[in-house]
Amino acid sequence: MVSAHLEQWLNLVLRWAHVITGIAWIGTSFYFNWLNSRLVPLPPERREPGVAGELWSVHGGGFYRVVKYTVAPAELPRTLHWFKWEAYATWLTGFALLVLVYYIGAASFLVDPQRARVSAVAGVAVAVATLIVSWLGYDALCRSALGARPLALAATLFVLATALAWGLTELLSPRAAYLHVGAAIGTIMAANVLMVIIPAQRDMVAALTAGRTPDAGRGKQAALRSLHNNYLTLPVLFIMVSSHYPATYGHRLNWAILAGLAVIGVATRHWFNLRNEGRKNAWILPAVAVALVALALVTAPRSGPALPSVSGQVSFADVRPIVARRCAGCHSSAPTTPGIPAAPLGVRLDTPDEIRANAPRILAVAVDAQTMPLGNVTGMTAEERDVVGRWIRAGAPLR
Ligand code: HEC
Repeated sequence: MVSAHLEQWLNLVLRWAHVITGIAWIGTSFYFNWLNSRLVPLPPERREPGVAGELWSVHGGGFYRVVKYTVAPAELPRTLHWFKWEAYATWLTGFALLVLVYYIGAASFLVDPQRARVSAVAGVAVAVATLIVSWLGYDALCRSALGARPLALAATLFVLATALAWGLTELLSPRAAYLHVGAAIGTIMAANVLMVIIPAQRDMVAALTAGRTPDAGRGKQAALRSLHNNYLTLPVLFIMVSSHYPATYGHRLNWAILAGLAVIGVATRHWFNLRNEGRKNAWILPAVAVALVALALVTAPRSGPALPSVSGQVSFADVRPIVARRCAGCHSSAPTTPGIPAAPLGVRLDTPDEIRANAPRILAVAVDAQTMPLGNVTGMTAEERDVVGRWIRAGAPLR
């Protein structure tokens, strides 16, 4: 089908652009953070009024000297670089991808009728509202009295984000739920740039040009938002690749796992921030590693109690028709499902050998996480999942 082919290329272009702009955004953000932490005062013989510090570096065969002003230079240069389109372009390409994959393809990717009776249209409404309401709520909290107490604010935001994750996993397909927590955070980060950080910088520039003193309050708000963006980068990056990890989003306690991974991401970022300030923090990274291992162990699938097997042993003859009926419409060298031009992710389940070779992945997505068949469009039953699961756990014998 031509439209499915075009859709793939559109997806490719948008995703490619999203990754590139995202790297540019996070890259500049990491770079300026690092820069701020490595500035040193000018030596006495070169003291300049209004200069906070300098930094020397070498990269790509050239030497660079960067100077930071305590407030601003006495005179603004003709060319001043702003660093804002990285953020806007990341959000725009990300939103376009959301529309293409999750909203146009809502019936397959966004909602999951087996989990919640939410129509595709209602799912899209929930998804878009999530982005808007998250920003409005976050912005209001930052401007409230809590804004002056960064730790209390961070704890409140964490509880709210976890509640959002729980709510979305109740309403949407689990992959879409994860992604929309990430999209909500990404929206907050981009809106921080658009609505708070850049306006504060504009205000500073205008004040300097007019010979006024810049408003310190706005500068403070911008610094708080910048700090939030800094801590949010690592959690958001995990969420953006989370669809590869059915063990996380497919788990019964997926929202709690997401909360755990978010804490691990924020803690790791904190380690970098402390290190940049030259402060000792030997315990954070080992603690993060222990937490990751603990999370992996706690969420490991349990081999449940021996099932009262009705028909004794499950043979391949029981499994093959299930796979043919429930999976092969998409996972075939010649898929028959409209909109699926080729076997998704190259997973083909036509022959016994292909089915056997993919057994561990089938177990992960069709038995444990139950995210396949996509949106359960082929109506796979619990008994069928049980049969497939018992066959794979018995070693997936082809006889
Ligand atoms: C309606 C089409 C459709 C049906 C039916 C379907 N799948 Fe999929 N499957 C997909 C798509 C699309 C993807 C790729 C998802 C993505 O982009 O991550 C996929 C991905 C997979 C993957 C790879 C997951 C990964 O991340 O490594 C496995 C394994 C899989 N499916 C197994 C199955 C099994 C087993 C069945 C039947 C029980 C099934 N699928 C039914 C569309 C389908």
